[in-house]
Amino acid sequence: MKHFAVIGNPIAHSLSPVMHTAAIEALQLDADYTRVKLEIDQFDLEIRRFLASEIDGFNVTVPFKEKIIPYLDQIDPFAAKCGAVNTVKRSDTGWTGYNTDGYGFLEGLEEKRPLSIDDRILIIGAGGASKGIYLALSEKCEAPITVTNRTLEKAEQMLAAERSDRAISLEEAEARLAEFTIIIQTTSVGLDQTHFDLPLSLESLKKDTLVADIIYNPLKTPFLQAAEQKQAIIQNGLAMFVNQGALALSIWTGENPNRAIMKQAVLNSF
Ligand code: ATR
Repeated sequence: MKHFAVIGNPIAHSLSPVMHTAAIEALQLDADYTRVKLEIDQFDLEIRRFLASEIDGFNVTVPFKEKIIPYLDQIDPFAAKCGAVNTVKRSDTGWTGYNTDGYGFLEGLEEKRPLSIDDRILIIGAGGASKGIYLALSEKCEAPITVTNRTLEKAEQMLAAERSDRAISLEEAEARLAEFTIIIQTTSVGLDQTHFDLPLSLESLKKDTLVADIIYNPLKTPFLQAAEQKQAIIQNGLAMFVNQGALALSIWTGENPNRAIMKQAVLNSF
């Protein structure tokens, strides 16, 4: 039997176990998937113990995506570029780290429509999640990417030297919003369901713009609600969550899991 897990802290509300268990059952694999909470101030001791256990592969979530790297034997080039790992696999040569977040997001975006060189992409936010998405997009798509962030320097630092992408202030992004055909919201604004906060105003958003949020709880953030009012095509963060999980399961097992079943399992547990 194979054993998979997700490590993080907090981890009690992670929907990864329910999602992966549904995929494992549908594939009729002899495997299980559990959640493991590691103490932040005991990480060194606890991760060593965890790696010595009978585990074949695991996901890594907040706040360990960077901390895990020194414990790995190999790192996939894309994960190395991201500087963050969300998927780890055991093999004959030891532990290998991967990052499926950015490509998972991209798959979700392409469920709505294929990307084109004529697209003009705006990414809002310049944290860890944004970086993986920027790198996946910049590898797969020739359309220019603009990154906007409250702290402009962080957006500037993220840009790939070999591309002519740009970083702009939130004010400039707001003023030029109608130029963009794809807008991706990666900030944590919207997680707090008690406030109707937006990272920037969508007042001048054009109809039929593809607008994506990486947050999946709530399924429709204030940002997506505002975009929908402007008749945008919206994609929520559930697609990214499901696809990053499906890509991780493929890395561990070589199988192609049923994403619709995974998505339904998550929706059922809301
Ligand atoms: P993650 O790794 O999940 O992306 P993060 O690294 O903490 O999380 O990044 C959070 C992002 O949300 C950043 O882009 C942050 O902007 P700053 O770099 O200026 O901190 C953005 N963010 C958080 N709160 C915000 C707010 N109230 N308004 C605008 N941007 C905000």
